[in-house]
This record gives sequence, C-alpha cells and structure tokens, in this order.
Amino acid sequence: MTGSAQDRFRVGIIGMGRRGRLLAKCIRLCEPEHKQQLHRQLRGLPAPIHWEAEIVAAADQVEQCRDEARAVLPDGCAVHEDPMRVIDDPDVDLVVVATASIAHAQWTVAALEAGKDVFCEKPMTTTLEDADRIVDAVQRSGRVFGLSMQNRYSFWASTVGDLVRSGEMGELAMMWCHEFRCPFWERPETNDWISDMEASGGPFLEKNSHHWDIFNGWAQSPAVRVFARTRDTGSHADKGDIWDCAVSTVEYANGVMATHNLSLMTRFGHNLEMGAIGTGGWAVAEREGDGGTVTFHDNLSPNQRVLRANLSGVGAVGHAGAEIPMLNHLFGCLQRREQPQTSALWGRESILVGLAAQRSADEDRAVELRELRDESRFPELMPDYAD
Ligand SMILES: NC(=O)c1ccc[n+]([C@@H]2O[C@H](COP(=O)([O-])OP(=O)(O)OC[C@H]3O[C@@H](n4cnc5c(N)ncnc54)[C@H](O)[C@@H]3O)[C@@H](O)[C@H]2O)c1
Repeated sequence: MTGSAQDRFRVGIIGMGRRGRLLAKCIRLCEPEHKQQLHRQLRGLPAPIHWEAEIVAAADQVEQCRDEARAVLPDGCAVHEDPMRVIDDPDVDLVVVATASIAHAQWTVAALEAGKDVFCEKPMTTTLEDADRIVDAVQRSGRVFGLSMQNRYSFWASTVGDLVRSGEMGELAMMWCHEFRCPFWERPETNDWISDMEASGGPFLEKNSHHWDIFNGWAQSPAVRVFARTRDTGSHADKGDIWDCAVSTVEYANGVMATHNLSLMTRFGHNLEMGAIGTGGWAVAEREGDGGTVTFHDNLSPNQRVLRANLSGVGAVGHAGAEIPMLNHLFGCLQRREQPQTSALWGRESILVGLAAQRSADEDRAVELRELRDESRFPELMPDYAD
C-alpha cells in the first residue's frame, strides 16, 4: 500500500480481551448499521465517523477470549490462537495490539517488521528497553504507529490544551490530576496480569500513562524531575503485588509543575478531574459520559465560561466518546501516511515519566528524567513538544 492513498483499511486484532473487544466494536462503528445506531443515539446528528475499515482477522491465546470475540467480530472474520497468523496474513494492513501490556513490544515489533502499520494499546510498554525497541522498529520500517491514548483526543483534554495553546491561560504554571476509581477488575481468564507489577508495569504505567501523556502535551516541554510516593491499603489484597494509592509531582523543563493523585480504592463512584492554571486563568476538566465539561476561570475577573461537549449518546461508545476522534485521527494518518499525534515518541515520553515515578517511590528520592534518558538507546530522541 506504500505510496498510494488508501481509504479502506483491513484490520487484524491481537488480544481479544476486554479492550480488544471494545476496540473491535469501535472500529465497526463505520459499518452502516452501527453508524445508523450512533446517529439515533446522537438524536439525529450525523455520526462523526470518517473512516472505512473491515476487521478481517483476530487472535487470542485464551479459548474463552476467542469465544467471546466471535460475538463482536464480523461474520467470516478469522479467529486464531497464534498472533503470528494475524501478522502474516497478507489481507491485514493494520495490526491492533491489545494484549497484556508486557507483550505490546513483542507483537508490535513483529508486525512492523512484517511491513504492517500498528495501533497499540497504552501503556506503550512496561520497560524503557521495550519502548526503545518500538521507536527503533518504527524508524526502521517507516510504517505508521499509533498509540491508543484516547484521552489525548477527548473533548475535555483537547479543550484545555487549546486554552493553553491559545495563550488565553497566560503562561502555564501548574497542572493537576486526580483519579479516584475502583480496584482493577479481576481477570481470572487472563491470569489477572493487571494486578501484577511486572506484567502491567504497575499503576504508574497502566493507569497514569494517560495522564502523563496529557500533562506532557499541555506542558509543551519535557519532564525533568519526578517525586512520587505509593501506599498499599489492601484494595487488591488477595491478588497481585500492585499498590493502590499514589501521590506524584512532576517538574517540566519550562518550570511548569504538576501533581497527580491516584486511588484504586473507590468501589462506588469514579472521579477523574484534570486541570491547568496559568497567569491569565485556570481550567478544570471533568470527564463525563456526554464527552465532558471544561470550566475556564479568568484570574483577573469573576468571569467564567463553561464549555460542554453535550453529546448525550457518545458515552455509550466508551471513555466519554473519545474513542471516535482518536480513530478518526488514526485512520486519517494512515491515509496520509503520517505518524499520529500519539506517536511512538510521545508514548515513550509517558513511559519515562511513569518509570521515573516508580523508581522515585521505590528508592525514596526525586528522580531526574536525564537519568532514565541516559539509559535509553536513543537519549536524544523526543517528540516535538512545541507542535
Ligand atoms: N486505552 C484504554 O483506555 C484502555 C482501557 C483498558 C485496557 N487498555 C489496555 O489494553 C490492553 C489489554 O487490556 P484488557 O483490559 O483487554 O485485558 P484483558 O486481560 O481483558 O485482555 C488481555 C488479552 O491479552 C491476551 N494476552 C495476554 N498475554 C499475551 C501474550 N503474551 N501474547 C498474546 N496475547 C496475550 C490475553 O489472552 C487477553 O485476551 C492492556 O495493555 C491495557 O492496558 C487500554
């Protein structure tokens, strides 16, 4: 397909657990009957789906996952046990990697080396070595690689990003995030990998990588120092070795400071709030089912402005509707042969912050990002923070 514009993509998915199945449903929103249903959910607004794709193959090593996958895949889609059957399938253009996080690099690198484009779940990897392997494979293959960081494309996160970039917030000074959520769901059928520090990378990667990515994008400057503390109150007591509470601070090269609180203890209710304050004003974003709300407050007057996505119906798609703009962007980039906004380099930046936070908590000290960058095979490589 290299060199010629393509407008319909054939997709193969590796990892048909919860996320793989949700992504299959989201990708299939481009099919006429699903588009029509979304159109009704949006009370007659046109379904904002601008891609054309067909899922032609999938794989999962667990029989129960393969069985559950068939319910969400199109008739006739091949469902394999071995992921290499998807990668080697000449009918597949784009490989989606939605396995346990520890396996992302293995299947991503294999797919890129086989000449496929890749869309990979977050966190990009659980180690810096694996993040470097992906960065290297993207560069060597020249294929498109996108990371499934849907929050970057959400109404709420992109609206705050726009307020920062427009200058309306003045000079950005501080950012914050708190997420209070339930313990990770049990996954007995897939060995509860998510509660295992090694298989998941721990919550600083599994959960916070979304928020590090948003902080990094809003800050428009690389992180330089992280200090973090974790605590285990026993919410996951009977399984795994992950902690369930953390407080982190992140400092950026341009002087911006950020704080992050994560709790995995809240069995009822889920609260995710992120915000940013500059010399001109501050904005607080709340993720809600209808796409979210951003309230912008002027620092020097009582004025405030409430910006709402107000798209009842998109919440049913997942993550406050953010999967849709992410997939529109991904497939647009595939057509134009461009790296998506959530590229391998941006993915590696979020991994670096998460790894620094875990090292800080483990070693009870502030960790300079330079220390981790120096351990990388590509210490000088960074995304374009000013973009
Ligand atoms: N973008 C998001 O908001 C979001 C949300 C949930 C999960 N995720 C990510 O999606 C990925 C999958 O999460 P999930 O919730 O579907 O978990 P899951 O346990 O439901 O599914 C994981 C799947 O990976 C397969 N798998 C495990 N190890 C494998 C290996 N070595 N090789 C091939 N397949 C393997 C399992 O058989 C299973 O079907 C994780 O990386 C997770 O962090 C992202």
